Amino acid sequence: MSGFKIGNVDIKNRAVLAPMAGVTNPAFRLIAKEFGAGLVCAEMVSDKGILLENARTLRMLYVDEREKPLSLQIFGGSKETLVQAARYVDQNTNADIIDINMGCPVPKVTKCEAGAKWLLDPEKVYEMVNAVSNAVEKPVTVKMRLGWDEDHIYILDNVRAAQSGGASAIAIHGRTRSQQYEGTANWEWIGEAKKIATVPIIGNGDISTPQEAKHAIDHYGVDAVMIGRAALGNPWMLYQTVQYLETGELPPEPAAREKIDICMLHLDRLIAIKGELTAVREMRQHAAWYLKGLKGSGPVRKQINEAESRDTFGIILYHFVEQLERQMQEV
Ligand SMILES: Cc1cc2nc3c(=O)[nH]c(=O)nc-3n(C[C@H](O)[C@H](O)[C@H](O)COP(=O)(O)O)c2cc1C
Repeated sequence: MSGFKIGNVDIKNRAVLAPMAGVTNPAFRLIAKEFGAGLVCAEMVSDKGILLENARTLRMLYVDEREKPLSLQIFGGSKETLVQAARYVDQNTNADIIDINMGCPVPKVTKCEAGAKWLLDPEKVYEMVNAVSNAVEKPVTVKMRLGWDEDHIYILDNVRAAQSGGASAIAIHGRTRSQQYEGTANWEWIGEAKKIATVPIIGNGDISTPQEAKHAIDHYGVDAVMIGRAALGNPWMLYQTVQYLETGELPPEPAAREKIDICMLHLDRLIAIKGELTAVREMRQHAAWYLKGLKGSGPVRKQINEAESRDTFGIILYHFVEQLERQMQEV
Protein backbone atom coordinates (compact mmCIF):
# COMPACT_ATOMS: atom_id res chain seq x y z
CA MET A 1 0.00 0.00 0.00
CA SER A 2 1.61 3.25 -1.07
CA GLY A 3 1.09 6.78 0.17
CA PHE A 4 -1.11 9.66 -0.97
CA LYS A 5 -0.91 13.38 -1.63
CA ILE A 6 -2.35 16.41 0.12
CA GLY A 7 -2.11 19.22 -2.41
CA ASN A 8 1.52 19.14 -3.51
CA VAL A 9 2.70 17.39 -0.32
CA ASP A 10 3.64 13.72 -0.60
CA ILE A 11 2.58 11.60 2.36
CA LYS A 12 4.55 8.39 2.21
CA ASN A 13 2.03 6.10 3.91
CA ARG A 14 -1.50 6.06 5.27
CA ALA A 15 -0.96 6.43 9.00
CA VAL A 16 -1.47 9.94 10.37
CA LEU A 17 -0.84 11.05 13.96
CA ALA A 18 -3.90 13.02 15.21
CA PRO A 19 -3.53 16.52 16.60
CA MET A 20 -3.74 16.37 20.40
CA ALA A 21 -3.54 19.47 22.55
CA GLY A 22 -0.93 19.08 25.28
CA VAL A 23 0.51 16.00 23.57
CA THR A 24 1.56 16.54 19.96
CA ASN A 25 4.39 18.99 20.59
CA PRO A 26 7.73 18.54 18.77
CA ALA A 27 8.95 16.00 21.38
CA PHE A 28 6.20 13.48 20.74
CA ARG A 29 5.73 14.32 17.06
CA LEU A 30 9.35 13.52 16.32
CA ILE A 31 9.00 10.15 18.04
CA ALA A 32 5.83 9.46 16.04
CA LYS A 33 7.70 10.36 12.87
CA GLU A 34 10.63 8.12 13.79
CA PHE A 35 8.12 5.32 14.34
CA GLY A 36 6.94 5.80 10.79
CA ALA A 37 3.86 8.08 10.81
CA GLY A 38 3.38 9.41 7.28
CA LEU A 39 2.06 12.73 8.58
CA VAL A 40 2.10 14.26 12.05
CA CYS A 41 -0.34 16.95 13.22
CA ALA A 42 0.55 19.62 15.72
CA GLU A 43 -1.73 20.55 18.62
CA MET A 44 -4.28 23.26 17.89
CA VAL A 45 -3.17 26.87 18.09
CA SER A 46 -5.46 29.85 18.67
CA ASP A 47 -5.64 32.39 15.84
CA LYS A 48 -5.82 35.24 18.35
CA GLY A 49 -2.78 33.90 20.21
CA ILE A 50 -0.82 34.07 16.96
CA LEU A 51 -2.00 37.57 16.13
CA LEU A 52 -1.22 38.87 19.61
CA GLU A 53 2.22 37.28 19.22
CA ASN A 54 1.76 35.56 22.55
CA ALA A 55 5.17 34.03 23.33
CA ARG A 56 3.76 30.65 24.38
CA THR A 57 1.62 30.45 21.24
CA LEU A 58 4.49 31.37 18.94
CA ARG A 59 6.63 28.64 20.51
CA MET A 60 3.89 26.18 19.49
CA LEU A 61 4.56 27.05 15.86
CA TYR A 62 8.09 25.63 15.93
CA VAL A 63 8.58 22.75 13.52
CA ASP A 64 11.77 20.69 13.45
CA GLU A 65 13.02 19.82 9.96
CA ARG A 66 12.93 16.11 10.86
CA GLU A 67 9.19 16.20 11.58
CA LYS A 68 8.18 17.08 8.05
CA PRO A 69 5.71 16.65 6.47
CA LEU A 70 3.74 18.27 9.28
CA SER A 71 0.29 19.77 9.52
CA LEU A 72 -0.21 22.74 11.80
CA GLN A 73 -3.73 23.27 13.09
CA ILE A 74 -5.31 26.63 13.85
CA PHE A 75 -8.69 27.48 15.32
CA GLY A 76 -10.74 30.63 15.46
CA GLY A 77 -14.22 32.06 15.11
CA SER A 78 -13.90 35.05 12.80
CA LYS A 79 -12.83 35.11 9.20
CA GLU A 80 -10.47 38.06 9.58
CA THR A 81 -8.47 36.64 12.45
CA LEU A 82 -8.37 33.13 11.02
CA VAL A 83 -7.12 34.38 7.66
CA GLN A 84 -4.45 36.56 9.25
CA ALA A 85 -3.30 33.70 11.48
CA ALA A 86 -3.16 31.35 8.49
CA ARG A 87 -1.06 33.90 6.61
CA TYR A 88 1.32 34.09 9.52
CA VAL A 89 1.67 30.30 9.60
CA ASP A 90 2.08 30.25 5.83
CA GLN A 91 4.87 32.80 5.79
CA ASN A 92 6.67 32.21 9.08
CA THR A 93 6.69 28.49 9.81
CA ASN A 94 8.19 25.32 8.51
CA ALA A 95 4.78 23.54 8.44
CA ASP A 96 3.75 21.85 5.20
CA ILE A 97 -0.02 21.99 5.64
CA ILE A 98 -2.40 24.37 7.41
CA ASP A 99 -5.30 22.58 9.08
CA ILE A 100 -8.46 24.27 10.31
CA ASN A 101 -10.05 22.90 13.45
CA MET A 102 -13.75 22.29 13.01
CA GLY A 103 -14.24 19.64 15.62
CA CYS A 104 -13.15 20.93 19.01
CA PRO A 105 -16.12 20.34 21.34
CA VAL A 106 -15.00 22.30 24.41
CA PRO A 107 -17.32 25.20 25.36
CA LYS A 108 -14.41 27.64 25.74
CA VAL A 109 -13.81 27.20 21.99
CA THR A 110 -17.37 26.75 20.67
CA LYS A 111 -18.55 29.84 22.62
CA CYS A 112 -16.19 31.89 20.44
CA GLU A 113 -17.91 30.50 17.33
CA ALA A 114 -14.86 28.31 16.71
CA GLY A 115 -14.18 24.56 16.53
CA ALA A 116 -17.24 22.35 16.22
CA LYS A 117 -19.61 25.36 16.14
CA TRP A 118 -19.14 25.67 12.37
CA LEU A 119 -20.59 22.21 11.85
CA LEU A 120 -24.06 23.78 12.07
CA ASP A 121 -23.48 26.02 9.08
CA PRO A 122 -22.10 24.59 5.80
CA GLU A 123 -22.16 28.06 4.22
CA LYS A 124 -19.82 29.34 6.89
CA VAL A 125 -17.59 26.31 6.31
CA TYR A 126 -17.35 27.22 2.64
CA GLU A 127 -16.72 30.88 3.34
CA MET A 128 -14.02 30.31 5.95
CA VAL A 129 -12.16 27.59 4.06
CA ASN A 130 -12.35 29.61 0.87
CA ALA A 131 -11.01 32.75 2.52
CA VAL A 132 -8.13 30.89 4.16
CA SER A 133 -7.13 28.85 1.13
CA ASN A 134 -7.12 31.94 -1.08
CA ALA A 135 -4.86 33.73 1.38
CA VAL A 136 -2.06 31.15 1.62
CA GLU A 137 0.33 29.09 -0.50
CA LYS A 138 0.42 25.95 1.63
CA PRO A 139 -2.36 23.38 1.19
CA VAL A 140 -5.29 23.89 3.57
CA THR A 141 -7.11 20.97 5.20
CA VAL A 142 -10.00 20.71 7.60
CA LYS A 143 -10.60 18.42 10.56
CA MET A 144 -14.27 18.02 11.40
CA ARG A 145 -16.71 15.91 13.37
CA LEU A 146 -19.88 14.39 11.91
CA GLY A 147 -22.07 17.18 13.20
CA TRP A 148 -23.17 19.13 16.23
CA ASP A 149 -25.45 16.43 17.65
CA GLU A 150 -27.50 13.45 16.50
CA ASP A 151 -30.17 15.81 15.05
CA HIS A 152 -27.69 17.97 13.16
CA ILE A 153 -25.38 15.70 11.19
CA TYR A 154 -24.38 17.81 8.19
CA ILE A 155 -21.20 15.91 7.37
CA LEU A 156 -22.00 15.47 3.67
CA ASP A 157 -22.86 19.16 3.18
CA ASN A 158 -19.85 20.18 5.22
CA VAL A 159 -17.49 17.97 3.19
CA ARG A 160 -18.90 19.45 -0.05
CA ALA A 161 -18.53 22.95 1.39
CA ALA A 162 -14.94 22.42 2.53
CA GLN A 163 -13.79 20.89 -0.73
CA SER A 164 -15.44 23.54 -2.89
CA GLY A 165 -13.92 26.13 -0.58
CA GLY A 166 -10.49 24.78 -1.52
CA ALA A 167 -9.63 22.19 1.14
CA SER A 168 -6.98 19.74 -0.10
CA ALA A 169 -8.01 16.96 2.31
CA ILE A 170 -10.54 16.45 5.09
CA ALA A 171 -10.09 14.49 8.30
CA ILE A 172 -13.34 13.24 9.81
CA HIS A 173 -13.74 12.14 13.43
CA GLY A 174 -16.80 9.88 13.40
CA ARG A 175 -18.53 11.47 16.40
CA THR A 176 -20.79 14.46 16.93
CA ARG A 177 -19.83 17.39 19.10
CA SER A 178 -22.34 16.39 21.76
CA GLN A 179 -20.83 12.91 21.99
CA GLN A 180 -17.52 14.44 23.05
CA TYR A 181 -15.51 11.18 23.37
CA GLU A 182 -18.43 8.98 24.45
CA GLY A 183 -19.92 6.06 22.56
CA THR A 184 -18.19 4.80 19.46
CA ALA A 185 -17.15 6.51 16.26
CA ASN A 186 -19.62 6.02 13.43
CA TRP A 187 -17.56 4.87 10.47
CA GLU A 188 -20.63 4.41 8.25
CA TRP A 189 -20.88 8.20 7.97
CA ILE A 190 -17.17 8.45 7.21
CA GLY A 191 -17.69 5.90 4.41
CA GLU A 192 -20.63 7.95 3.04
CA ALA A 193 -18.50 11.08 3.10
CA LYS A 194 -15.73 9.30 1.22
CA LYS A 195 -18.19 8.40 -1.54
CA ILE A 196 -18.98 12.04 -2.30
CA ALA A 197 -15.48 13.42 -1.66
CA THR A 198 -13.23 14.73 -4.40
CA VAL A 199 -10.26 15.21 -2.05
CA PRO A 200 -8.53 12.67 0.22
CA ILE A 201 -10.53 11.68 3.30
CA ILE A 202 -8.65 10.79 6.47
CA GLY A 203 -10.85 8.66 8.73
CA ASN A 204 -10.56 9.10 12.48
CA GLY A 205 -12.04 7.63 15.63
CA ASP A 206 -11.30 4.62 17.81
CA ILE A 207 -8.62 3.00 15.66
CA SER A 208 -6.76 1.01 18.26
CA THR A 209 -5.04 -1.78 16.32
CA PRO A 210 -3.27 -2.12 12.96
CA GLN A 211 -6.02 -4.53 11.90
CA GLU A 212 -8.67 -1.88 12.57
CA ALA A 213 -6.66 0.59 10.53
CA LYS A 214 -6.56 -1.81 7.60
CA HIS A 215 -10.27 -2.54 7.91
CA ALA A 216 -11.05 1.19 7.84
CA ILE A 217 -9.08 1.64 4.62
CA ASP A 218 -10.35 -1.52 2.93
CA HIS A 219 -13.96 -1.28 4.02
CA TYR A 220 -14.70 2.44 4.11
CA GLY A 221 -12.29 3.44 1.36
CA VAL A 222 -10.61 6.23 3.33
CA ASP A 223 -7.29 7.44 1.99
CA ALA A 224 -5.63 7.29 5.39
CA VAL A 225 -6.37 6.69 9.05
CA MET A 226 -5.72 9.20 11.79
CA ILE A 227 -4.65 7.70 15.09
CA GLY A 228 -4.92 9.60 18.36
CA ARG A 229 -5.37 7.97 21.76
CA ALA A 230 -4.00 4.60 20.70
CA ALA A 231 -0.61 6.22 20.10
CA LEU A 232 -0.39 7.74 23.60
CA GLY A 233 2.61 6.11 25.26
CA ASN A 234 2.52 3.68 22.36
CA PRO A 235 4.23 4.97 19.22
CA TRP A 236 4.80 1.27 18.36
CA MET A 237 1.15 1.27 17.35
CA LEU A 238 2.06 3.65 14.51
CA TYR A 239 5.03 1.52 13.46
CA GLN A 240 2.98 -1.66 13.58
CA THR A 241 0.19 -0.04 11.56
CA VAL A 242 2.52 1.18 8.84
CA GLN A 243 4.21 -2.24 8.61
CA TYR A 244 0.90 -4.09 8.64
CA LEU A 245 -0.56 -1.89 5.90
CA GLU A 246 2.55 -2.26 3.78
CA THR A 247 3.54 -5.89 4.29
CA GLY A 248 0.60 -7.61 6.02
CA GLU A 249 2.96 -8.57 8.85
CA LEU A 250 2.63 -7.52 12.47
CA PRO A 251 5.85 -6.54 14.24
CA PRO A 252 6.12 -7.87 17.82
CA GLU A 253 5.19 -5.85 20.89
CA PRO A 254 8.10 -3.93 22.43
CA ALA A 255 9.93 -5.22 25.50
CA ALA A 256 9.53 -3.26 28.76
CA ARG A 257 13.06 -1.81 28.51
CA GLU A 258 12.40 -0.51 25.01
CA LYS A 259 9.24 1.22 26.27
CA ILE A 260 11.16 2.91 29.06
CA ASP A 261 14.01 3.91 26.71
CA ILE A 262 11.51 5.69 24.46
CA CYS A 263 9.74 7.22 27.46
CA MET A 264 13.09 8.69 28.60
CA LEU A 265 13.88 9.92 25.07
CA HIS A 266 10.47 11.61 25.08
CA LEU A 267 11.28 13.20 28.44
CA ASP A 268 14.69 14.43 27.25
CA ARG A 269 13.14 16.03 24.20
CA LEU A 270 10.46 17.64 26.34
CA ILE A 271 13.15 18.98 28.70
CA ALA A 272 14.90 20.57 25.73
CA ILE A 273 11.67 22.43 24.89
CA LYS A 274 10.15 23.21 28.27
CA GLY A 275 12.86 22.92 30.90
CA GLU A 276 13.28 20.11 33.41
CA LEU A 277 10.57 20.77 35.99
CA THR A 278 7.72 21.45 33.55
CA ALA A 279 8.78 18.55 31.34
CA VAL A 280 8.99 16.11 34.26
CA ARG A 281 5.53 17.14 35.50
CA GLU A 282 4.04 16.80 32.01
CA MET A 283 5.72 13.46 31.49
CA ARG A 284 4.00 11.90 34.52
CA GLN A 285 0.85 11.32 32.49
CA HIS A 286 2.84 10.09 29.49
CA ALA A 287 4.81 7.70 31.70
CA ALA A 288 1.53 6.21 32.92
CA TRP A 289 0.65 5.61 29.26
CA TYR A 290 4.05 4.06 28.48
CA LEU A 291 3.69 1.80 31.53
CA LYS A 292 0.21 0.63 30.56
CA GLY A 293 0.08 -3.13 30.25
CA LEU A 294 3.32 -3.72 32.17
CA LYS A 295 2.62 -6.02 35.07
CA GLY A 296 2.87 -4.45 38.50
CA SER A 297 3.29 -0.87 37.24
CA GLY A 298 0.63 0.61 39.57
CA PRO A 299 2.99 1.57 42.43
CA VAL A 300 5.54 2.92 39.90
CA ARG A 301 2.97 5.39 38.61
CA LYS A 302 2.46 6.67 42.14
CA GLN A 303 6.22 7.17 42.59
CA ILE A 304 6.52 8.90 39.22
CA ASN A 305 3.82 11.34 40.27
CA GLU A 306 6.16 12.63 42.92
CA ALA A 307 9.31 12.78 40.79
CA GLU A 308 10.57 16.32 40.21
CA SER A 309 13.78 15.64 38.30
CA ARG A 310 14.93 13.70 35.28
CA ASP A 311 17.28 11.61 37.38
CA THR A 312 14.60 10.49 39.85
CA PHE A 313 12.27 9.76 36.94
CA GLY A 314 14.89 7.56 35.28
CA ILE A 315 15.89 5.77 38.50
CA ILE A 316 12.26 4.83 39.24
CA LEU A 317 11.55 3.58 35.72
CA TYR A 318 14.77 1.60 35.23
CA HIS A 319 14.53 0.10 38.70
CA PHE A 320 11.10 -1.20 37.70
CA VAL A 321 12.40 -2.59 34.40
CA GLU A 322 15.23 -4.40 36.14
CA GLN A 323 12.74 -5.92 38.55
CA LEU A 324 10.61 -7.09 35.62
CA GLU A 325 13.62 -8.52 33.83
CA ARG A 326 14.70 -10.42 36.94
CA GLN A 327 11.22 -11.89 37.30
CA MET A 328 11.31 -13.01 33.66
CA GLN A 329 14.65 -14.73 34.18
CA GLU A 330 13.32 -16.59 37.19
CA VAL A 331 10.35 -17.99 35.28
C1 LIG B 1 -5.72 14.75 24.69
C2 LIG B 1 -6.41 15.05 23.39
C3 LIG B 1 -6.24 16.28 22.80
C4 LIG B 1 -6.85 16.57 21.56
N1 LIG B 1 -6.59 17.78 20.95
C5 LIG B 1 -7.07 18.00 19.69
C6 LIG B 1 -6.67 19.15 18.96
O1 LIG B 1 -5.88 19.99 19.42
N2 LIG B 1 -7.21 19.33 17.72
C7 LIG B 1 -8.08 18.41 17.16
O2 LIG B 1 -8.53 18.61 16.03
N3 LIG B 1 -8.44 17.30 17.82
C8 LIG B 1 -7.95 17.06 19.05
N4 LIG B 1 -8.26 15.90 19.69
C9 LIG B 1 -9.08 14.91 19.00
C10 LIG B 1 -8.20 13.88 18.27
O3 LIG B 1 -7.45 14.50 17.25
C11 LIG B 1 -9.06 12.76 17.65
O4 LIG B 1 -9.97 13.33 16.75
C12 LIG B 1 -9.84 11.97 18.70
O5 LIG B 1 -9.03 11.65 19.82
C13 LIG B 1 -10.41 10.67 18.10
O6 LIG B 1 -9.37 9.84 17.62
P1 LIG B 1 -8.85 8.54 18.47
O7 LIG B 1 -10.06 7.71 18.75
O8 LIG B 1 -7.87 7.89 17.55
O9 LIG B 1 -8.25 9.07 19.73
C14 LIG B 1 -7.68 15.61 20.93
C15 LIG B 1 -7.88 14.37 21.56
C16 LIG B 1 -7.25 14.08 22.76
C17 LIG B 1 -7.47 12.72 23.38
